[in-house]
Amino acid sequence: MVQAVITENAPGKAPATDIDPFAPEVLRDTYAYHDLLRALGPVVYISRYNIHAVTGYAQVREVLEKWDPYTSARGAGLSDITQPGAWRAGGPIVEVDPPRHTKTRGALGKILSPIVVRNWGEKFKAEGAELVESVVARGRFDGVRDLAEAFVLKVFPDVLGLEINRDQAVAVGNMNFNALGPMNAYFEASVAEVAPFLPWWQKITQRESMIPGGFGELIFQAEDAGELDPGTASGLIMSMLRGGMDTTISAIGSALWLLSRNQEQWELLRREPNRARGVFDETIRLESPIQTFFRTAKSPTVLAGVELPEGMKVAVHPGAANRDPSRWENPTKFDITRQTTGQLALGYGIHNCIGQMIARLEFESVVGPFAKLVKAVELDASEAPPSYRPNNALRTLAALPLKVTLA
Ligand code: HEM
Repeated sequence: MVQAVITENAPGKAPATDIDPFAPEVLRDTYAYHDLLRALGPVVYISRYNIHAVTGYAQVREVLEKWDPYTSARGAGLSDITQPGAWRAGGPIVEVDPPRHTKTRGALGKILSPIVVRNWGEKFKAEGAELVESVVARGRFDGVRDLAEAFVLKVFPDVLGLEINRDQAVAVGNMNFNALGPMNAYFEASVAEVAPFLPWWQKITQRESMIPGGFGELIFQAEDAGELDPGTASGLIMSMLRGGMDTTISAIGSALWLLSRNQEQWELLRREPNRARGVFDETIRLESPIQTFFRTAKSPTVLAGVELPEGMKVAVHPGAANRDPSRWENPTKFDITRQTTGQLALGYGIHNCIGQMIARLEFESVVGPFAKLVKAVELDASEAPPSYRPNNALRTLAALPLKVTLA
């Protein structure tokens, strides 16, 4: 259970709490933590890390919309990467402001244009149908490992033009998202988990590792053509590996679990399979894959009446905004017919997710055939119940044992 000491707010100051947002019991109970903060106010001071946390829909949107003063260039994580001794350099798209961001985003947007992504549709759909058919035929399987991971870790590296296996992908994903939080036990454990793969990790973002025909190669060509700043291409490949896999795996896993425990919604999807798109948005509204990332106030500012000094880190919780009762009716209900426009799981403003079309396509390529081939889906009670894997920023299922009856 989430517990905290609360200090009442003075004018211009946020209510304060000593809670550790990255403690195991808090990460295990994300929504109780959000409820606790929400009850205090949309902006709360977290004394342990000297940061403010934002849960209100309007305030999360405001922070993401105003890249000035809420800069990304001081890091999308808890630590300020511009401070002396910072242990990592910033990412070339997600951790830069305009005009650098505008240039990089423009070049990457051309490489990942809607026409390019739409052209992958046939391949994704064929691979999705084939995988789902072979997996559901077994009757019992793990929805995360056998479907979500197996699919995403096949098609995304294929189109990017990289070779990556499951252990490497899981280790790197865990570390990347843990790195958005403090250097706590989760972070340390994921650094240890990644250690055996370091030689591979150092090579994977280099030009020589790109398999011809993938879009990774095009990123290096854009750098050669001056469309990207020198030295940006490798960092962008890393951004793809960071942003492109665990998030989509999380969305597919959460959707399968939500569908298995909401029979009425499952029946609706089966009757109207083109609702898979609505399932995507409603899933990531209700179970946002990235629960925490940061901005930094680059000049003194005021948010919801709270004064934020220069250098203040602001933790943004899209998953809380997506369940804010002042914005969403019956916010904890999974409703695939809901009007989800405005949900913030894909970010908002200039840094909004550039890979969302890819994510949708991947999602629909798995969930679509699943709803077509399966008549009934439930948890496999002979296995341990599913649980979310604790991570400083990512909400993703560790496992999802399912039992299905075929249509
Ligand atoms: C369900 C799946 C996904 C979710 C929930 C998600 C979530 C997000 C969020 C919240 C942001 C904003 C970060 C910020 O403002 O600091 C973002 C940006 C980004 N995403 Fe995604 N993402 C998903 C899929 C993908 C995929 C498939 C790719 C691969 C191309 C990708 C690549 C990126 C990149 C490169 C950015 C940075 C964009 C920028 O800074 O302009 N994402 N994503």
